[in-house]
Amino acid sequence: MQQPKLKSKVRCTDRDIGEVTKVVLDPLSHEISHIVVSMNGSGERQVGMGHVQAVMEDLVELRAPSSDIAALPPFRRDDYVTTHEVEISHLEDDLHVTPGEVLVPFPALEKDVKRRTFFMNFTHVIGFLIGLPMAYPILRFLMKPMYMPFDNEWLQVGNVSKIKQDDLGVQFQYKKKVKEAYMPESEVEKSVWVLKASSEVRDKVYQGKDQEFRDAFGKLIWTNKKDFPYIAFSGKCPHLGCAFKWRQHKTLGQVFLCPCHLSIYDASGKVLDGPAPRALDALPIRVSASGEVEVVDMEFKAGVKSQIRIV
Ligand code: FES
Repeated sequence: MQQPKLKSKVRCTDRDIGEVTKVVLDPLSHEISHIVVSMNGSGERQVGMGHVQAVMEDLVELRAPSSDIAALPPFRRDDYVTTHEVEISHLEDDLHVTPGEVLVPFPALEKDVKRRTFFMNFTHVIGFLIGLPMAYPILRFLMKPMYMPFDNEWLQVGNVSKIKQDDLGVQFQYKKKVKEAYMPESEVEKSVWVLKASSEVRDKVYQGKDQEFRDAFGKLIWTNKKDFPYIAFSGKCPHLGCAFKWRQHKTLGQVFLCPCHLSIYDASGKVLDGPAPRALDALPIRVSASGEVEVVDMEFKAGVKSQIRIV
């Protein structure tokens, strides 16, 4: 499909609704993921390319009625940076648009804490410290479950038949029951990335040694054997814990990419680029005779070089 252009008219199934004022890019593929539409005086909406039916010279046709587009949340400029502020070279040339009007997502974790928010939080902290001695016995009772030993239960996440090719990241999603402090038990959606690794990738992961997993008291929980073909990586980026994806990179080939701050890892989990302080976290994995993949769901402290288990 042709790329949408700035100032193109935007037409819904029932009427014209405005024009394209900006485009939003996927930072890795450099494809347009959204257009920003100025709605004839009623603000801007960010419209995913999934809504686009056809792109013509000066017209973008949507496959939704205007009421659906108007119901989308207003476009928030603060959630994005222009391509001048991140390194994506020659982009405006490729897309034939005006510099400054091509945006890429701005990681929420890097946004400035506003001064007013800072003072508000500061006041809350002072109040909390004053009240702490009175609240301590109650807190100790309520927080007892937080100091329970780690849960080393094996969780079934899917079948290896889902993996069609070696050295290809495949996401397995699963649900896990969690109980936090005094809150009632709830179910959270989690994911791991599983690879059927070639011997080259396994060599990079294990570097000739089996990988042992131990509990807080040093007791051995499990050993991932260096010859076992399946490898599971925690679904959380070791930088600040965002979810990452398996994507095609223009020059590096297929990689794990974290969109939050653009950390890039190869199939063995090794950091190729970005701020990640360590490789992806491998998890204990085993596969039953019928091909069911099981992992121990572990989480590790983000943002630090060494692997420190927290869940
Ligand atoms: S969370 Fe920052 S790069 Fe992944």
